Amino acid sequence: MAINIKSSREIELMRESCKILGKVFMEMEQFVRPGISTKDIDDLGEKLIRSYGCVPNFLNYEGYPASVCVSVNDEVVHGIPRKDRILQEGDIVSLDAGLIYKGYHSDMARTFGVGEISEDAKLLIERTKASFFEGIKYAKDGCHLYDISGAIDNYISKFGYGIVKELVGHGIGLSLHEEPQIPNFKQWRRGPKLRSGMTLAIEPMINMGGADVCWLDDDWTVVSEDESLSAHYENTVLITDGEPEILTLIDM
Ligand code: MF3
Ligand code: CO
Repeated sequence: MAINIKSSREIELMRESCKILGKVFMEMEQFVRPGISTKDIDDLGEKLIRSYGCVPNFLNYEGYPASVCVSVNDEVVHGIPRKDRILQEGDIVSLDAGLIYKGYHSDMARTFGVGEISEDAKLLIERTKASFFEGIKYAKDGCHLYDISGAIDNYISKFGYGIVKELVGHGIGLSLHEEPQIPNFKQWRRGPKLRSGMTLAIEPMINMGGADVCWLDDDWTVVSEDESLSAHYENTVLITDGEPEILTLIDM
């Protein structure tokens, strides 16, 4: 298994790619409210990405028909934006998007509340985010990849939530998906050693109920089998010999 180590020039381009994506997310977050359609969010996301001279990397990826994945409530990931899917007060909505800047990919996801949401939903969103930060305590040169997986699992399991196992994080750079795969649950090995210059998209997907998921008939939308709420939190990070650098903006 070969995990790419980025040169300092490549790291600069990854930083820029991710910085632009962070700005796109800040604008999308402002836009989320009751009454808009999931397609409205995709339209805005694509327009913003292109306004920075970048290209949406999800669009047409293995046939995916949009630039932003918009997943509502029990939809875990890869929800396909639709004009007739209108956000309602109390929903939670996960946005996942990425872009290409001068050949370099970025990838990021957040779950937002639509208007006022339940206390339980707030906790799910907060804890999904917190699990990312537990995981990246081990995202540094000299640690092993699956230390990250184990830390996410340890943190999440105590709440009785289900960690989605069918989908994982990944290396990222000249491609959206590079080696390695990064599971969000405990592995029985420590995995490959992390080295400075690796760029990884770490992305816990957490269900309030059971861990099992299934696919809708559109062949994309992943939903929790028990229809419980699901949250997603993803950043592209750079491994260094100190603290990891979170390349996609983190103040949300
Ligand atoms: N964001 C997803 C990931 O992290 C990729 C989405 S696949 C797409 O791997 F087809 F929806 F673009
Ligand atoms: Co990803």
